[in-house]
Amino acid sequence: MNYQNILIAKEHNIATIIINRPDKLNALNKVTIQELHHAFSVLETHHDVRAIIISGSGEKAFVAGADIAEFAEFSVEEGIQLSAQGQETLFNFVENLRVPVIAAINGFALGGGLELAMACHIRVASDNAKMGLPEVSLGVIPGYGGTQRLPQLIGKGRALEMILSAAMISAEEGYRVGLVNHITKPDELLDFCYEIAQKIIKNSPAAIAMAIHAVNANFREGENGYETEIKSFGKCFGTVDFKEGTKAFLEKRKAVFTGE
Ligand code: COA
Repeated sequence: MNYQNILIAKEHNIATIIINRPDKLNALNKVTIQELHHAFSVLETHHDVRAIIISGSGEKAFVAGADIAEFAEFSVEEGIQLSAQGQETLFNFVENLRVPVIAAINGFALGGGLELAMACHIRVASDNAKMGLPEVSLGVIPGYGGTQRLPQLIGKGRALEMILSAAMISAEEGYRVGLVNHITKPDELLDFCYEIAQKIIKNSPAAIAMAIHAVNANFREGENGYETEIKSFGKCFGTVDFKEGTKAFLEKRKAVFTGE
């Protein structure tokens, strides 16, 4: 597929996706969401891709939200469909990907932009980042999982304040409340994310996928996370990676994982 709005690069088992609509501050329109879905689904099947970094092009924005121009005239039914389709094709999809995704937040992460970062497994912000869910200032609410993931990450009280005030917070505040794991200088952001990715890719891809699945179980309705952990833990014993990991430890050498 030829992408209009995203760029993809691959180096040493790490793929980087750049959302590339800088003149619209990388706002997520329908085409971009479809392209991201396609890119994530393809990269997940590439055995050599063991971590993915996602960022925005330009110096100003990660993503400044869903594309407001696209939904300004929507009806109730279209609004429901926009939210449901977006959640399924991108936000829940990323959260449940077998390959870890690191959000490199290089500026504004607003609305759908912050929701995308929150669906990623790890978040790093540059010190000029500004994050918020300003939807109520437009007469709507976050619809790409923001009302659920923000309280999960920073607690209900702080999340409600951010959502109801529509205010942006700085990278420093985001770090303080646990919304981002690290802050870097803007020109060090991608390298820093790359360093995290390099630590991840040394480990068993099969176990990593199982760990993501088990951690997410805590947030899936009607699922007992402890039960999911038991099953996932057990499944690891049937993988080639487990045999290799334990054998390599006992033989005092580095494991060579295949993800099988
Ligand atoms: N959807 C569609 N277009 C957007 C957008 C969005 N979410 N965010 C920014 N843009 C567009 C602007 O319309 C403008 O396009 P134009 O040059 O064709 O007029 C361009 O990106 C640059 O944005 P601009 O507003 O001129 O930049 P700024 O530096 O003055 O302000 C922001 C930056 C992020 C504060 C401002 O763009 C903004 O508030 N964006 C909307 C944020 C939002 O509400 N997101 C949630 C959506 S649900």
